[in-house]
Amino acid sequence: MLIRKAPDVRYSEVTPKSFYVRRREFIAAAAAAAVGAAAAFSPAGTGRARAQGARAKLPNVRKGPFGTDEKLNSFADISGYNNYYEFGADKDDPARNAHRLVTRPWTIRVDGLVKSPASYDIDSFIKPHPLEERIYRLRCVEAWSMVIPWVGFPLADVIKRLDPLPSARFVEFTTLNDAKQMPGVRVPVLDWPYVEGLRIDEAMHPLAILAVGLYGEVLPNQNGSPIRLVVPWKYGFKSIKSIVRIRFTDQQPRTAWNVANAREYGFYSNVNPTVDHPRWSQATERRLGEFFRRKTLMFNGYGDQVASLYSGMDLRKYY
Ligand code: MTE
Repeated sequence: MLIRKAPDVRYSEVTPKSFYVRRREFIAAAAAAAVGAAAAFSPAGTGRARAQGARAKLPNVRKGPFGTDEKLNSFADISGYNNYYEFGADKDDPARNAHRLVTRPWTIRVDGLVKSPASYDIDSFIKPHPLEERIYRLRCVEAWSMVIPWVGFPLADVIKRLDPLPSARFVEFTTLNDAKQMPGVRVPVLDWPYVEGLRIDEAMHPLAILAVGLYGEVLPNQNGSPIRLVVPWKYGFKSIKSIVRIRFTDQQPRTAWNVANAREYGFYSNVNPTVDHPRWSQATERRLGEFFRRKTLMFNGYGDQVASLYSGMDLRKYY
């Protein structure tokens, strides 16, 4: 992964030279996109995108299960220190650039091995699902972590409603890929669009959610508005943002980071302190806002709930 500011690792130690070069390309592309975006958006369109980023409260959010009582990270940390490469490679780029993302109208296509392939307007997609607050740890592969009060609903409920065929063994998610709104996709850091996937039994696990908010409010664009995945026992890169497509398949999906670098990013991506990333240790992490490092927990501390999904599997091989 294109690593910046992993707390105890210097950029030069972890970042291949090609990424330095690409970063220069990115800056050039971002400048070009800014000109393009200014031309492409009407003032009304820009205003709408900004207004959505303007902290709207979500109604009727009930307390969900599985909450941790650890100290929450601040809204400023959660919405200001992000990975969203479609908006840039630095941690503060998404907060600076993601206001360009227009999140309404928004359509999610559901296809592949499913009874009724269809396209859904985002609000009708969300509507059947009561909103819950789920306080989860997010552990990034770059060895930092946060505690985030998400608002969302179980992915399992969505999958039951979409009714995949019995032959579906995996579910694949895709992020929007629009260079007019997302300057980062002009740079070939990944083979865009961003794609992630889960085995169906992982996706049906009650901890996995689709999030539409945090801190009781609509998800900031930089956190993956209008809808993103949250899989708390896996490294953060599995938690794909701004989803436009959900596809059921009998083949293991070709996920974006795995395609980019299979040695460093496996399909499973379970948080595992005993399997180091080839370029740094995964044994400890830095919680944003804390000085001392803490030990990383197996499955990010959710082992009691999820370990049985992987019984009999060699997690060194299936990393
Ligand atoms: N989804 C998309 N589409 N693009 C991305 O670059 N980054 C991932 C994940 N989802 C990413 C993405 C990574 S590496 C992490 S750690 C989390 O988003 C970060 O989520 P957050 O910024 O809301 O904390």
